[in-house]
Amino acid sequence: MGIVRKFLRREEVIKSFPLPLIDPSVPSIKSWIKILKSPYKSKTFTNGGKLASSAEELMANWNGKDRRGYLCSSNTSGLIVTLIALGAKDKKIALSNFTFPATLQAVFAAGGIPIACDVDPSTWELSVEELEKARKMHPEIKIILHTRVFGFIRDLSELVKYCQNNSLTLIIDSAAAFPVREVKENILNSEVVEVFSLHATKPLGIGEGGLVVGNDENIKKIRKAGNFGLEKSNESFSDGINAKADEFAAARALAAFEKFKSNGKLRQNFARELTELLEPFKKITLPVRTGDTSWSFYPIKFEHEDQLLEFQEKIKDITLSRRYYRPALFSGYSGKNHLYAVSDLSNSTDVSNTILCLPILPRLSKTIKNEFFSSIKNALRDEFQIRESKHSDV
Ligand SMILES: Cc1ncc(COP(=O)(O)O)c(C=O)c1O
Repeated sequence: MGIVRKFLRREEVIKSFPLPLIDPSVPSIKSWIKILKSPYKSKTFTNGGKLASSAEELMANWNGKDRRGYLCSSNTSGLIVTLIALGAKDKKIALSNFTFPATLQAVFAAGGIPIACDVDPSTWELSVEELEKARKMHPEIKIILHTRVFGFIRDLSELVKYCQNNSLTLIIDSAAAFPVREVKENILNSEVVEVFSLHATKPLGIGEGGLVVGNDENIKKIRKAGNFGLEKSNESFSDGINAKADEFAAARALAAFEKFKSNGKLRQNFARELTELLEPFKKITLPVRTGDTSWSFYPIKFEHEDQLLEFQEKIKDITLSRRYYRPALFSGYSGKNHLYAVSDLSNSTDVSNTILCLPILPRLSKTIKNEFFSSIKNALRDEFQIRESKHSDV
């Protein structure tokens, strides 16, 4: 390679690091501004505008036949109105201790009583086994609020069946789990409601936004709760908030959705390459059964927290990384509401302390990606040796 090219490459490398945690796939200005002509013409900017209706229909159908959608201002507002509409007030609600604060805050906002449960150590998610334990301690649990951690699209048929057999309402916080491929046969039964985030950090990112997907009956109730609980007649109102998305958000959603499939595939390829890079390191655990996930971050689990911290320090000049979801709910919540928990939260506390998320950056140049991957590999190789020598000291 010529000296000049070598120099330019070095310059590119120096300027690019540390790499960001997120490469937002928010649509280009040109792609969504042009869609806005129609709301300006009709002078309808929110409250059931045409763009919102189109986005809802497209994105709900993507999630399976006969699904309906409600475009809202965020995943959090979508969760709140879903919980309100499905009767969460004063009801005990089981959720994972290993999730983002918003899952818990939505329960408080809807007047529910949260019960933090432990997770399965291999999937890092709530399981039927953990729910059984929770229901023994709290037989009044009526609603299960499951989180698809890191947006992993796993087969939840066992959980769905369990909820059906025990007359439990199932709501899924699918914040980062908008499916990269069209869902032909949705295994979720029609009563299950799924709530997605369209936050800029998510694979289908638009800035702020959310989408609730469910059956027609539930979506009607959820839409009402998202519009202050107002009855059509305007003569009365029940519980609700303002959760509506405006036509500007809907325009961004339509533009982002158009590019989503191809962007999602690039993200999946990047995750596949990271998996190949990381698999040889036996002492870190990679996510399992990730299905058709569209990947917001790439989480890796260490055996001990000090190994995570050491690795994070080593890669800090190369890339930003983040400890999602940390703290776990029960150890991290310091607010004024009451959070109950099952007695043993050891699995969720452990995963929360030992998981580190690496970025998914599908648009890196080859030079930068190679540098990024080899730095990760070197940092882990050292880590591996340190652990061996520590053990041999004992
Ligand atoms: C599991 C989970 N739930 C809820 C949220 C909140 O989503 P939003 O910012 O769209 O309200 C997030 C955000 O990262 C999340 O990861």
